[in-house]
Amino acid sequence: MVDLRATEQSRSPRPTLDRKRVYTSQFNAMARVDSIPPRVMILDTTLRDGEQTPGIALSTDDKVRIAQALDDLGVDVIEAGFPAASIGEQDAARKVASSVSRARVCGLARCNRKDIDRLLDCGLDYVHTFIATSDIHLKHKLKMDREQVKARAVDSIEYAKSHGLTVEFSCEDATRTDLDFLKEMHIAVQGAGVDKINVPDTVGTISPPAMEYLVKELMTVTKVPISIHCHDDFGMAVANSLAAVRQGAQQVHVTVNGLGERAGNAALEETALSLMAFFDIEMSVDTRKIGPTSKLVSRLTGYPIPPNKAIIGDNAFAHESGIHVHGVLGDPSTYEAFGPELVGVQRNIVIGKHTGAHSVKEKLSEYGVDITDDQVAQVVDKIKKLADSGKDVDDAELVALASHIVGQQETRNVRLKEFAVFTGINTTPTAVVSIEVNGEKKTGTSIGIGPVDAAINAIKSVMGNDISLEEYRLSAITGGSDSLCEVSVRVARSGGRKMMSIGKAVGSDIVQTSVDATMEALDRLYCHKKEL
Ligand code: KIV
Ligand code: ZN
Repeated sequence: MVDLRATEQSRSPRPTLDRKRVYTSQFNAMARVDSIPPRVMILDTTLRDGEQTPGIALSTDDKVRIAQALDDLGVDVIEAGFPAASIGEQDAARKVASSVSRARVCGLARCNRKDIDRLLDCGLDYVHTFIATSDIHLKHKLKMDREQVKARAVDSIEYAKSHGLTVEFSCEDATRTDLDFLKEMHIAVQGAGVDKINVPDTVGTISPPAMEYLVKELMTVTKVPISIHCHDDFGMAVANSLAAVRQGAQQVHVTVNGLGERAGNAALEETALSLMAFFDIEMSVDTRKIGPTSKLVSRLTGYPIPPNKAIIGDNAFAHESGIHVHGVLGDPSTYEAFGPELVGVQRNIVIGKHTGAHSVKEKLSEYGVDITDDQVAQVVDKIKKLADSGKDVDDAELVALASHIVGQQETRNVRLKEFAVFTGINTTPTAVVSIEVNGEKKTGTSIGIGPVDAAINAIKSVMGNDISLEEYRLSAITGGSDSLCEVSVRVARSGGRKMMSIGKAVGSDIVQTSVDATMEALDRLYCHKKEL
């Protein structure tokens, strides 16, 4: 096994995975092999391959914010972009390099001197250079033969090394490259002084056993650390990365939230947790920062995290069925492989069709509602009836339902009385609202980026700073400019226990409909008399 510290700056691992609190299968330990390295490095390519996700374009500022979060998370290398692609990419790579303190920063370059010069212009000291080696790419893309490709790789690596760069080299489409030629390439680039060789599964076409076979073969001729870069075309990116590590790969390429070309790359969160939990591997990643980093990347890229996404999806630690909630309340290990705090997210007890008395009681006690067992049974009955008719119950509705049953009068005390918005060209959108809160009329005014923002800010100015708009969705119900729109908002109220409420409205005017949806959410949030 190559000592990584000989080629990389030594970084002290931060063992944050408390293994006593990870409840994985005992068979993982039985299936361990000696070729698994004790430590694996993480190269994050969210800013390069991740940005190649269709529809994603990050500004330099956004790239810097993500890079700082990745640095703080503890990844070893950040691939900041492809400097030869544009002036913007160069600017971003330069700024990323100067704004991180712990991780190394690399840039992508094709195997040619010009690309390497652009990278040097950015002040980077680490290049990830690549050239395709599969016959498919040679014939249909590069129109080069194997010898030409090999010569180009060797020349580029020698050139990069002569400029003092750390060099990581990839045979693009390695997993569809003839094995003898792939080995020949590995031998040739090592002769040229390469520091690390990455093995890309460019089109996501390999299976985990085949990956094990390939890496084992490559290990016979590769004396520098092997890295792995997997795409998710068959949903195998993480499994293939683990397979490569099983045979000795010492670095994995990942992206936050699995962003990347087509179906994406191996997700950082799944790969890091799996390597730690299944293989007991040491890493410098602070797992508790995974959740916040994932949310930041989702917000800045505009790519939502699917609710059922492993580790960081909203449902990853959500429990609805009575049996599961009962178990989790007894001991989380019954239905959780590890606690949400380990990855910086929260557990969520969801109220729905499968809810049982334990969930309801637990949830209501969080909101300080005292309720007897008989009353809980009535609440559960109501929830199930509502769920059967297709209606989800949010937290605010649950509290309202329970309050009603325990005899507290449920009243709708928040009502919109007046509303106006002024907007136009060269005019700052301004809104005025009057809202009756518990019989008392209050008026507020605010400006905003657009008329919807101004209207919601005006409502917030009346209702107080503890109100926040957590989610806003707008969709057109039919096509055409006269289409009705549907607005759905999620409003939260902090102060004491955080409460959430959802409001929906349909209408022909986007601003009015947004106001209606927000008022509905607020009505629900404030319908519990104690809350007023
Ligand atoms: O998937 C791939 O092959 C790549 C290369 C640039 C390494 O991203
Ligand atoms: Zn890739």
